[in-house]
Amino acid sequence: MCAEKIGWDSSQLRKYDLHLDEIPRLHYEDPKVDEFMQKNQPVLITGSKLVKPAEEKWTLDYLEKNLGKSNHTVFVSRNHKFKYFDEKKIYNKNNLKGVEFTPPTKRVDMKITDFMKKLREWKRGDERLYLQQPLNSTVGSTIVEDYLKFDWHFVAEKKNKYHWGELTSNVLFISMEGNVTPCHYDEQQNLFAQILGYKRCILFAPDQFECLYPHPVYHPHDRQSMVDFERPDYTKYPKFKNLKGCETVVGPGDVLYIPIYWWHHVESLMRGGPTVTVNFWYKGGPTNLEYPLQDHQKVSIMRNVEKMLLEVLQDPKEVGPLLRTMVLGRYCDP
Ligand code: OGA
Ligand code: FE
Repeated sequence: MCAEKIGWDSSQLRKYDLHLDEIPRLHYEDPKVDEFMQKNQPVLITGSKLVKPAEEKWTLDYLEKNLGKSNHTVFVSRNHKFKYFDEKKIYNKNNLKGVEFTPPTKRVDMKITDFMKKLREWKRGDERLYLQQPLNSTVGSTIVEDYLKFDWHFVAEKKNKYHWGELTSNVLFISMEGNVTPCHYDEQQNLFAQILGYKRCILFAPDQFECLYPHPVYHPHDRQSMVDFERPDYTKYPKFKNLKGCETVVGPGDVLYIPIYWWHHVESLMRGGPTVTVNFWYKGGPTNLEYPLQDHQKVSIMRNVEKMLLEVLQDPKEVGPLLRTMVLGRYCDP
């Protein structure tokens, strides 16, 4: 890829020991886009006008002025990593004592003016911030107008063609340079529309489950990989060495299709300034059980088995031993 011409260079990427291919980059009118999306495979779509009004107008100053006076959800981290956690799972009904867990980030409500001030005054060593807030009715009317001018025809066509469910939300991400969203998967289809700055997205197919060692489903870090990409513990997670994925860097105007249940790691490029993204999250379509099952359907089945065992055993510590007893020497080698 000719990085010079496109506003970033490889020294701005964090270094990981990973085997990665390039995600195909296709113009939105290219019929091959369809082939990828039809098969639930990632593709970077260029040239669409999906979030054109935002691309043209959403500078940080404009967002500060027009995002509204209400509070926004901001995550605060003492390092560059913003690993998501489910607050509801910290005190889980299946583990009354609560999982032993220290949240890696702090969620705070912040006025946009305070957030932007911190963004402007940030220096190395300070806490990092990451605004992650669904676009809702509290945003100012100018932002609503821009939002209404998004290319809804473009997304509606995708939704219908691939039988996705309803649009659940559009999350606005405003990130400091260098912030990292560690590797996780979501249970929704995602059109990830880049507006300002550059983000590197590393994706892994659902069949890489074994190499990525997700936390158990009851854990606050459900859907997140337990492996720290920067210092992988190969003794605990030996199959991480076999992990194979694909990557791309998205810039303004690019739309990345992140298929449902695909793992993704997202990093705002270092020394690239703040970044702005809006995603489009859609529910998965109706599941027709055609055999052989697809890998993401198997992940969904595993989630259900885990949940069911927890429900009946009432103690997460009993799940592993039961599964071992059931499987070892019978369904796999001891
Ligand atoms: C997502 C996502 C993280 C980010 O859109 O599903 O994980 O940092 N985004 O943009
Ligand atoms: Fe995600």
